[in-house]
Amino acid sequence: MGRGLSDIAAAPCLKVEALSKRFRVNGHHISALEEVSFEVRSGEVLGILGPSGCGKTTLLNIIAGFLPHDGGRVMMDRRPVTGPGPERGVVFQEDALFPWLTVAENVGFGLRNGDGKAGRRVKVERMLEMVGLQGYGHYLPRAISGGMKQRVALARVLVLRPAALLMDEPFAALDAQTRADMHELLISLQRRLEQTVVFVTHDLEEAIKLADRVLVMQKSPGRIRRDFAVGLPRPRNLDSLEFLELKRSMYESLCGQEPGIPAGG
Ligand SMILES: Nc1ncnc2c1ncn2[C@@H]1O[C@H](COP(=O)(O)OP(=O)(O)O)[C@@H](O)[C@H]1O
Ligand SMILES: [Mg+2]
Repeated sequence: MGRGLSDIAAAPCLKVEALSKRFRVNGHHISALEEVSFEVRSGEVLGILGPSGCGKTTLLNIIAGFLPHDGGRVMMDRRPVTGPGPERGVVFQEDALFPWLTVAENVGFGLRNGDGKAGRRVKVERMLEMVGLQGYGHYLPRAISGGMKQRVALARVLVLRPAALLMDEPFAALDAQTRADMHELLISLQRRLEQTVVFVTHDLEEAIKLADRVLVMQKSPGRIRRDFAVGLPRPRNLDSLEFLELKRSMYESLCGQEPGIPAGG
């Protein structure tokens, strides 16, 4: 039996299975992640929401392949993750641009020589346009704003067309208006590229605004408390009754005011 297109589209892109992670601090082990399991489908936007210290960064770093884990496994397109790879692109909270390279050189940095100089330039130009930075290619990072730097950081990763985009509180350092602009940009890019996205945040509204699904985590040890499907139409109205209802349920889940409901059901 051949597989239909819809089967392929629904296939999990990323699978996290019974993941656990301990850190040794002052001779004691602390359990940062315990039995964390979930799947992300291709083209899905998954938000991971939780209080500070619940293990969000640890989880993302393990998925990115930057950090080893103790138990369980991470599968990316059916292959176990054993280290960093080009199919997983990471955007951090603090911009990590090379200060001595221009915006265009930063965006083109990861492109392979195989593309040829002209091919690379076309890809970079197209990507700069997609993130609204056409005309800024020759600027140095120090000459552009924080929001623009995050656009460059996003462009630099997306130009490599990763299967999954991983983001660790990428907009937390930005002011409210810039953050709202970045949300809009991310959603439009995600639609255009059908990009699979996993982002972590401690911001409830950000999670509901961006994600198709939100996993709420709890701390000590870091676990998934609940899996919320966000079925709201886009663009999302932050004042709608449905948005506020969901925000309230998630808030209660975050504060532990409801019994834990197993995720993934
Ligand atoms: N390298 C490390 N060494 C020891 N403990 C760590 C290390 N990294 C994280 N932790 C601990 O693991 C827990 C989860 O941290 P983290 O993943 O940074 O949480 P979050 O990103 O949700 O704020 C915290 O208790 C933190 O102190
Ligand atoms: Mg963190």
